[in-house]
Amino acid sequence: MKDLTPNKADLEPIEIASIDEIRGLQLDRLKWSLRHAYENVPMYRKRFEDAGVHPGDLKTLGDLGRFPFTYKSDLRDNYPFGLFAVPREQIIRIHASSGTTGKPTVVGYTQGDIDTWADLVARSLRASGLRQGNIIHCAYGYGLFTGGLGAHYGIERLGATVIPMSGGQTAKQVDLINDFKPDGIMVTPSYMLNILEQFHKVGLDPRQSSLAVGVFGAEPWTDSMRAEVEQAFDMHAVDIYGLSEIMGPGVANECVETKDGPVIWEDHFYPEIIDPETGEVLPDGEMGELVFTTLTKEGLPMVRYRTRDLTRLLPGTARSMRRMEKITGRSDDMIILRGVNVFPSQIEEQVLATVGLAPYYQIELFRAGHMDAMRVHVEAMLSVSDEASRKEASQKLERRIKDVVGLSTEIHVGEPGTVERSQGKARRVIDNRNN
Ligand code: DLL
Repeated sequence: MKDLTPNKADLEPIEIASIDEIRGLQLDRLKWSLRHAYENVPMYRKRFEDAGVHPGDLKTLGDLGRFPFTYKSDLRDNYPFGLFAVPREQIIRIHASSGTTGKPTVVGYTQGDIDTWADLVARSLRASGLRQGNIIHCAYGYGLFTGGLGAHYGIERLGATVIPMSGGQTAKQVDLINDFKPDGIMVTPSYMLNILEQFHKVGLDPRQSSLAVGVFGAEPWTDSMRAEVEQAFDMHAVDIYGLSEIMGPGVANECVETKDGPVIWEDHFYPEIIDPETGEVLPDGEMGELVFTTLTKEGLPMVRYRTRDLTRLLPGTARSMRRMEKITGRSDDMIILRGVNVFPSQIEEQVLATVGLAPYYQIELFRAGHMDAMRVHVEAMLSVSDEASRKEASQKLERRIKDVVGLSTEIHVGEPGTVERSQGKARRVIDNRNN
């Protein structure tokens, strides 16, 4: 893999500013943002008043802890445009996430917000090792989903050539990668595996492809998956994090020279980690739920938004701003099985560590008598076709999950191609317990 460490001279000054300067900027911006929310969004005004706080009470960053949280349900309750802080005419873009139940969550951006977003995605791509003049293949879905268009505008802002491929049409993805020779790809890590499979199907060597960097996000993925993809394509795999409610992709991004967890772009988003049960703010380094307050968002300011993502805040390394530990789970994705808490990512690590198994998996939950049970669907590698080797791989995986995660599971090793392939965000868990 090429050394793609960016030149310090190409970074924005704030990325390497002193901590004092960053905290000072955050405090000024936070005061503005709280006031903006309070004065323009009836829900915030009422929430603040009910909690007995006023934007003027914020004298230090620590005072933020006195302000009330905002939840995903608040967006639903104020569907579609009730949380916008500017007249609707000033909103030039809407995105929405479908969610699994009820109304979608709707978010809106002013021209200023779109500009900030493009700047931050461009910054994220630079951190990933990409540059002006590169070609970048964008396979995040275009449309209401925030991934495609969010990435797209950032690629243009970087001054690179964007291939707006969107998700799906996997054969065409590979044709275009082969023909246009992009330097970078932006896609969910699970869909990248689908693309990898297509390379093999058409007899192309992925290691010979032009791709030097993959910027992967929108779903949890492990360091084992990073190793798998880097090895398969001989390219860097870096992590991009974001969520629609806060902005979209590019809230945080990993640096290619360190790959030690996404750097939070703290000049625009103020992070806190809280105990998800009590709401108490936890010190840096402790594991808990990530909460964000936007510092510059005009259209849809968010105050202490509960992301449900579990991680910890880590000190800056390649940049002055803090990092978040790579997210391996959301509280919503946690499976509680016979008293054991398990995240799909823990299963992913074990699947990837098992020789003879392909990197595709899906977890099925079902009832066995009165007990909840888990079956892990995996596939043997194409090269492992005999029954004995498959059985061995299956037993190995079962043992690993028992030893490392502490759960007894059933393993189902299917033929190559039998596990559902991702077209975007992978569906890792099928819950058949109520069927
Ligand atoms: O998925 C934004 C995005 C698009 C990020 C493309 C990166 C690339 P939502 O659909 O609103 O937005 O989903 C947000 O996805 O709260 C996390 O649970 C999860 N997520 C996003 N990025 C990562 C990541 C986009 N790098 C939700 N690692 C978030 C783990 C991620 N989980």
